[in-house]
Amino acid sequence: MIQSTPKSCIYFDNAATTWPKPSCVLAAVQRGMTVYGANPGRSGYKMAFAASREIYSCREAAADFFNLDNPANVIFTQNCTISLNIVIKGLLKYGGRAVVSDLEHNAVIRPLNSLSIKEPIFDIACVTPGDTQKTVEAFRGCIKPDTRAIICLHASNVSGVRLPIREIGELAHMYGLKFVVDGAQSAGVLPIDMKKDSIDYLCLPGHKGLYSPMGVGMLLCNSELQLPTLIEGGTGSLSLEMSQPQELPDRFESGTLNTAGICGLHAGINFVKNKGIDNIASHEINIIKYIYQRLCEMKNVILYTACPDLINSAPVLAFNLKERQSEETAQLLASKGIAVRAGLHCAPCAHRRLGTIKTGTVRLAPSTFTTFRDAQYVCKVIENI
Ligand code: ALA
Repeated sequence: MIQSTPKSCIYFDNAATTWPKPSCVLAAVQRGMTVYGANPGRSGYKMAFAASREIYSCREAAADFFNLDNPANVIFTQNCTISLNIVIKGLLKYGGRAVVSDLEHNAVIRPLNSLSIKEPIFDIACVTPGDTQKTVEAFRGCIKPDTRAIICLHASNVSGVRLPIREIGELAHMYGLKFVVDGAQSAGVLPIDMKKDSIDYLCLPGHKGLYSPMGVGMLLCNSELQLPTLIEGGTGSLSLEMSQPQELPDRFESGTLNTAGICGLHAGINFVKNKGIDNIASHEINIIKYIYQRLCEMKNVILYTACPDLINSAPVLAFNLKERQSEETAQLLASKGIAVRAGLHCAPCAHRRLGTIKTGTVRLAPSTFTTFRDAQYVCKVIENI
């Protein structure tokens, strides 16, 4: 029996990657390296078949978890950024525009920027936290005759502000647009239902709320549209053909997959399912709420959002200490054994919104393993600074 890693610090950097990982994930990764050690989909002996079967069962688990009918439309990638690049560059390769929010991560902005040869091919809708109607109207106002897609994050990795994706998805389909969701900060914490949320392409990391190792991401496709490929190569199928297979998942899965990582992801999805996503969300939001309320009482603390709650927030909290750069505060916390991420979090748009482009912010993000004792300790250390 593999034990979960003992905590060596008070870890509040779960928005960057969750840690520790559940023991079932560690065991599954080891099984992936031993029991399923052959190259999946390439050879015809027992261990290679077993590896392929195990990978397919992870597709089934992911499809079921996010309410997608066909498990073959679950594509394994290296991470959420690669998934977003496949979709963005595929959808807009031959022209068209996208509407995005003003909180996007560089994983969305940079691929769009790379396609913007003469002028930006994207329009930015302003999110009003807690006001669904205003936010949806802002998206509507950005739609132009050549808009092809709405692409947005589910929750900000900087401030935890949550977007009303169900209503934005309805808007997208009302205008015949594709709806692409970056679930980097929400998958495994906030419910996502591809059908009810009208999502055509869902881009996800495994290593955050789904507790897999780093190096595994997913792209879930709920669209008939056949996107052009970003990368071509060997798929173990139709090997005589020079052209890339049409069928999913092979079309977007060239080269050998990360079997051990995918086994870990499968165990991570089961872990979240067994715990219950609602239980995970309410535990993490309660922790963040507790910290928020304590920080509200401290005169030298700046907070950037309303008090987090289950409807409008993901469990991520941004703050600063007055007259200190965020990195300096993070260093002080690190000296007391607390792990956080400071700076711009690869999301300068969100910082422009908050007015923190010069200082960055300090980010606290719990996981299901974070305890109230951890939260109390963090508050005490911040108070003493
Ligand atoms: N996007 C990740 C973060 O917000 C890495 O830290």
